[in-house]
Amino acid sequence: MSRSFRVAPGGSLSGTLRVPGDKSISHRSVMLGAIADGVTEITGFLEGADAISTMEIFRAMGVRIDGPQGGRVTVHGVGLHGLRAPVGPLDCGNAGTAMRLLMGLLAGQRFESTLVGDESLSKRPMRRVAEPLAAMGARIETRDGCPPVRILPVAALQGIRYQLPMASAQVKSALLLAGLYARGETTVVEPAPTRDHTERMLGGFGVAVRRDGAAVTLRGGQSLRATAIDVPADISSAAFFLAGASIAPGSDLVLEHVGMNPTRTGIVDILRLMGADIEVRNEHEVGGEPVADLRVRAAALRGIAVPPELVPLAIDEFPALFVAAACARGRTVVTGAAELRVKESDRIAVMAEGLRTLGVDATPTPDGMVIEGRGEQAAVFAPGAVHAHADHRIAMSFAMAALRAEGELAVHDATHVATSFPGFEALARSAGLRIEGRSQA
Ligand code: S3P
Repeated sequence: MSRSFRVAPGGSLSGTLRVPGDKSISHRSVMLGAIADGVTEITGFLEGADAISTMEIFRAMGVRIDGPQGGRVTVHGVGLHGLRAPVGPLDCGNAGTAMRLLMGLLAGQRFESTLVGDESLSKRPMRRVAEPLAAMGARIETRDGCPPVRILPVAALQGIRYQLPMASAQVKSALLLAGLYARGETTVVEPAPTRDHTERMLGGFGVAVRRDGAAVTLRGGQSLRATAIDVPADISSAAFFLAGASIAPGSDLVLEHVGMNPTRTGIVDILRLMGADIEVRNEHEVGGEPVADLRVRAAALRGIAVPPELVPLAIDEFPALFVAAACARGRTVVTGAAELRVKESDRIAVMAEGLRTLGVDATPTPDGMVIEGRGEQAAVFAPGAVHAHADHRIAMSFAMAALRAEGELAVHDATHVATSFPGFEALARSAGLRIEGRSQA
């Protein structure tokens, strides 16, 4: 079954809304809750396909998990060594985070396991995790570096110091989770800061994690103590609305309880550099993660050279940013973003193709894109049909483009939106986007 959107042109975004829970934090809350001692209560959990895959995988390893119901999940932890051998392969669906973090967590178990994924995930690189895990003594088999991933039991892992070759929170997190099962200390050194939810949450579960500049270290064998986790709204889902309200004249929108971890707020910084009007209100902390309400109003955006140091802090938000850049005056240049080529789709190629279909001068480069903004035009995008290549974030970004289109936009292959954003169509419609979804067999 595939889904597509038809979005009528124009309109603006207004009102007050809360987007679903953070995907990264939701995955981690189940994983750490499962290997903790005691019962972990989660609220605000993302009831999207990706996080549900993680829940099902732990159920298959003998963990009792109640929910999700209205964002509430209860994980009955089995302790560091309490997971049971699964009967069949563990299906990560579309979720790269599930697969990569689980590779680390399963590498130190005393049983064999196999991780599989859907068509998109089956093409994504897993060597970046398998290689450093092998250096820790893990035995991992892939198919030419891609899933399925077979993890064989080993007597013990050995802690290492590993310099990450790319800025990747998934690889960092996989190694830290393996490090829990390793002798001695495991240290991961990052080339640039990436999301630090794993480190923060491990701290919340009572694990001592040391941060020393670019290096994160933990000692193996520490047990986790169950805790309560309040998952903030996902800034990566808020991003479509931040971009949409910025480009649509007359917009005035409040997004509530958005996770504002400084390793995730690159989207706010980049949009502000482009002239966006985003006000941060009601800042506070929930369970070790900063949150705030964001008020965003329409603004005249200008093209910029995106500072490369902000790229890892906004890595999932580039599809939305490319749409905003097309609506800016002048040229936007993105560099240092080669990681976009190995996301749920090749986001450089797919976004450039879609933007060009809609009449925008967008030139893909090996590590980014050059976009000639058309902000001086009221209608930036020509009517037409684009393909999201089953990439949730690309589908939602092109839906927002209709706010500045000359005619109707069709977004085909918008199939996996519910992986990260269940209810996107209804929520976007309630804010003013003229979107209709259709399913085809
Ligand atoms: C994630 C890390 C990022 C991000 C992904 C979620 C995480 O991936 O793109 O959506 O939860 O750790 P990389 O580690 O590959 O950059």
